[in-house]
Amino acid sequence: MSNNLQHVRPTEDIPGPKALPLIGNLFRFLPYIGEYYNVNTLTLMRMLHDKYGNIVKFDGLKKQPSIFLFCPELCKSMYQLQGKIPIRIALEPLHNYRKNRKDIYKGQYGLTTSQGESWKDFRSKVSPHMMRPNTVKTHTTQIHAITSEFVDKMSTLRDPKTLELPDDFMNELYKWSVETMCLIALNYRMGCLKSNLAVDSEPQIMINCVKEMFNLTYRIENTTNAAGALLYYIASNKEKQDKLRKEVMSVLPDKTTLITHDLLEKIPYVRGCIKECMRLFPITNGILRNMPKDVCLGGYLIPKGANVMACHAVLSMDSKYFARPMEYIPERWIRNSPEFLLYRSTHTYAYMPFGYGVRACIGQRFAEMELEILLLKVIRNFRIEWHYGPLEHESQIVNTVKSPLRLKLIDL
Ligand code: HEM
Repeated sequence: MSNNLQHVRPTEDIPGPKALPLIGNLFRFLPYIGEYYNVNTLTLMRMLHDKYGNIVKFDGLKKQPSIFLFCPELCKSMYQLQGKIPIRIALEPLHNYRKNRKDIYKGQYGLTTSQGESWKDFRSKVSPHMMRPNTVKTHTTQIHAITSEFVDKMSTLRDPKTLELPDDFMNELYKWSVETMCLIALNYRMGCLKSNLAVDSEPQIMINCVKEMFNLTYRIENTTNAAGALLYYIASNKEKQDKLRKEVMSVLPDKTTLITHDLLEKIPYVRGCIKECMRLFPITNGILRNMPKDVCLGGYLIPKGANVMACHAVLSMDSKYFARPMEYIPERWIRNSPEFLLYRSTHTYAYMPFGYGVRACIGQRFAEMELEILLLKVIRNFRIEWHYGPLEHESQIVNTVKSPLRLKLIDL
């Protein structure tokens, strides 16, 4: 053990719910007796933070404890301690499947689940394509073409009387997302946007597979849910929508104006709207890292391999870091607006919907561009309204839209 670990407090001293021998904290999730029964992940995190403070230990069935961090300074330390090749052991069923199917995967496990040198090697090969603005730029026209088609389709999906989108509109958003991703990755049009896809058609089977994978793998289809939540926030904040439309009209005077990458540089309010949506509806609740060696975090010993989770979803809605935290205020992200000074956060680590550092989301630029183009096209074509209660979400490891997305679209 190195010198700086000699005077740290033992892991057992970290506050947290007391575990029982053999079953750990499992009993707390049982009906009738369990305080966490039926509690979603985000609420559970908030309960742990309120009761135990900024660093919380939660013993599960595994040998290694899980450590939850609820303050930006501790999250910063986690990243400093993660090492040059960060480890994130998640999605184990997917990893094991790939390991057992060497005939298909040939020992390649993909970025999400691979570790060590194999992750580093893979990441260094794909990063240049996925992260460089110049490369991402080249896909603008493709995303624009699909999104234009999708927005035309949205008109036809409405109920002719109420002008509302159908209950299963999220399935339509999946189709948009799958079609976009396949065109970017494979340069191939799947045909997901065709009307009345047969249940046994190739595109619908593909969509079902993505959804199924989603359930199995803590849901990889993040852009769809971010898009659903974004349309909800814009529809339910009329004043912000009017402001947004002003900006959209200034860059898209005509409905058919082509969206170019240069145009995407001139839409600070669109970007603010997306950032603010990701603050209030972060897709992941936390960023997981496994410690590469014994470390000292928050004054405690954290053993090698422990799961450490930076709980950014709790921080991004905490009044300590964001004033008026539950309000949708896109201006807080716009540098030259008065609200920027009033409501922005000075803590980098209180907002990280795409993670942080060398192992952060590699698809961030693509996801943002998809959302920007979708928002531009929708707002240029429709006034959108929401006549129901607050958006319901399901929160496990990731957050997904649960309410039927019955947005009302009024033609402009
Ligand atoms: C709104 C949409 C999205 C959100 C909120 C999101 C969020 C995240 C987060 C939080 C992580 C973990 C980062 C960390 O551990 O520091 C991650 C990892 C990752 N994301 Fe995304 N993501 C989105 C869209 C995408 C898209 C469209 C792609 C693919 C084109 C993608 C590919 C990946 C990959 C491959 C990783 C693993 C990276 C690695 O381990 O090196 N994501 N994402």
